[in-house]
Amino acid sequence: MRTLFDETKINSMTLKNRLIRSATWENMADQSGHMTESLFKLYEGLACGGVGLIITGYAFPLAEEQPNPGMMGIYDDSFIEDYRPLTEMVHSHGSRIVMQLAYGGSQTNYRTEDRNIWGPSEVADLAFKVVPHEMSQENIQTLVKAYGEAATRAKAAGFDGIQLHSAHGYLLNQFLCPYYNRRTDEYGGSIENRARIILEIFNEVRSRVGADYPVLIKLNAEDYIEKGATFEDCRYLCRELAASGIDAIEVSCGTFASGKLGPCRMRIDAPEKEAYNAEHAAQLADELDVPILLVGGLRSIEVIKNLLKTTPIDYFSMARPLLAEPQLVKRWQDGDCRPARCTSCNGCFRPNPAGNLCVLNFESE
Ligand SMILES: Cc1cc2nc3c(=O)[nH]c(=O)nc-3n(C[C@H](O)[C@H](O)[C@H](O)COP(=O)(O)O)c2cc1C
Repeated sequence: MRTLFDETKINSMTLKNRLIRSATWENMADQSGHMTESLFKLYEGLACGGVGLIITGYAFPLAEEQPNPGMMGIYDDSFIEDYRPLTEMVHSHGSRIVMQLAYGGSQTNYRTEDRNIWGPSEVADLAFKVVPHEMSQENIQTLVKAYGEAATRAKAAGFDGIQLHSAHGYLLNQFLCPYYNRRTDEYGGSIENRARIILEIFNEVRSRVGADYPVLIKLNAEDYIEKGATFEDCRYLCRELAASGIDAIEVSCGTFASGKLGPCRMRIDAPEKEAYNAEHAAQLADELDVPILLVGGLRSIEVIKNLLKTTPIDYFSMARPLLAEPQLVKRWQDGDCRPARCTSCNGCFRPNPAGNLCVLNFESE
């Protein structure tokens, strides 16, 4: 029988349990995206706190594109030495660390006057109202190459794998989404075309990092916007990725324009509100021979254990609960099985010069 604290493997990466810190933008890197002391300390807290795997906040692979301040960078070789102490520290605590790579696009607080912002088509972001420049095929190839180079750097810096961020309304998700992708070339139209850039990036990354290096992806089961990518689109992409050799798929949903069906739902205060992507994740786990990570609203160990027992989902990721309690996994493992303290208030998104911190901890100081 599977248990939460089984040792498992994703490709060549051995994990000490099935509990994962989902990517969380910390807003703590310096202006150029390099490490700071506070960011290092946050990761140290997570590594000591018992999670099997930490997925970093989204890191930008192109210097001119940082969709949010305080994001980590991976756009040149200076990051290799910069991140080595981080990956070594995480390994010294028996945890693993995967870097999430993301091109943000029009879901950004910056404006096209301030910087070059790419999108599949010139369609304003529904939440941020930014109209991106439609990418030329040359731009697409520049981005594909940038992801490949970023993955090579992450590997050289000691990260145990990389994750492509293809969820939540960022650029790769927009390519998949008919509302944002109005292209008439081979990157738009049919699902085969809308998925093309993601598969090209995956193949470029794989060709550079080798067959045994873990390459993961986070994607939306559904976008939950009008003319958004559907679960059928998601299933197509997952099948193609599986056939191409993806090592694990993290299942999320929604965008900033999806209202109550967004990726970070609020007031998860009862077991029946938890695990809001479980049905889709379970179906994908059933259909594919690829490990599935479930994220979204996991708050209690009982719910997680029950999903492990009743579905083929392999891994369970959390973001907000680990901002509130980096030691949560250790607490559960030590026998204190009360649910996460996180109230899903989304106060962690409130501007705070110290970073995206849990307001429960902040207010109690
Ligand atoms: C402050 C904050 C920053 C986030 N940053 C990222 C990110 O960089 N990449 C990503 O894929 N998801 C990001 N997310 C979404 C989470 O990974 C996760 O999918 C979502 O919060 C739902 O999980 P939870 O209920 O455990 O918080 C972020 C969420 C929060 C609250």
